[in-house]
Amino acid sequence: MNGSAALQAARELAVERVERLSEADLADLAEATDAAIIESGGFGWVEPQGRGALERHFRGVLLVPERELFVARLDGHAVGSALLVRPPRNNEAQAFAATLTHAYIAPYARGFGLARMLVAKVEERAAALGHRVINLDVRETQATAIALFESLGYQHWGTHPFYARVRGQTVAGRFYMKTLEPGRGRSTGALIDGAA
Ligand SMILES: CC(C)(COP(=O)(O)OP(=O)(O)OC[C@H]1O[C@@H](n2cnc3c(N)ncnc32)[C@H](O)[C@@H]1OP(=O)(O)O)[C@@H](O)C(=O)NCCC(=O)NCCS
Repeated sequence: MNGSAALQAARELAVERVERLSEADLADLAEATDAAIIESGGFGWVEPQGRGALERHFRGVLLVPERELFVARLDGHAVGSALLVRPPRNNEAQAFAATLTHAYIAPYARGFGLARMLVAKVEERAAALGHRVINLDVRETQATAIALFESLGYQHWGTHPFYARVRGQTVAGRFYMKTLEPGRGRSTGALIDGAA
């Protein structure tokens, strides 16, 4: 093992679903989020929001029943997050599908495999909740995220030409889906064969 590999192996990587956040977690997440926004966005925000607004944002996310927050940690510190958004109760026809959104890792914590772990954890949870499809969309300028999602088996099914406006420029968005293997019950194949 070379020096940098040894250094990397010594880092502690973790991803967890959270239902509450400590003050320290909120401060770390706000810092990570603003760092990601400043570097390239991908979170929806274009401009950094500041600690107060981001802490309020994450507190609010925890209150929404259809939203589940996943936090990535490097050496115990929150350095990124993602949301699993479940369909509302009245959307019975699309109850099988969930959305992965707002995924990012702070620039100072990239390259350790945390995003891969984050997506895997969200997929595992979605499957355990009975969802059979996961949807996501990403600006076409987010090349790293596109490489990540495509390597994880996400299928690009369409492009929206007017997806986002970033600093006066219109940016297209790529839409992806992936079928999930259920932990138990019918196979994903049955879901597809049975589609009306
Ligand atoms: C996309 C992002 C989440 C990746 O985070 P990360 O923790 O560095 O990613 P990982 O270390 O888990 O790498 C996962 C895969 O991403 C791709 N990837 C990571 N860094 C890359 C780079 N510099 N160039 C190309 N591909 C890269 C690779 O496919 C990599 O897999 P591999 O290591 O097996 O080759 C991060 O770059 C980010 O937050 N970007 C801005 C926000 C964004 O685009 N969010 C997604 C849309 S909502």
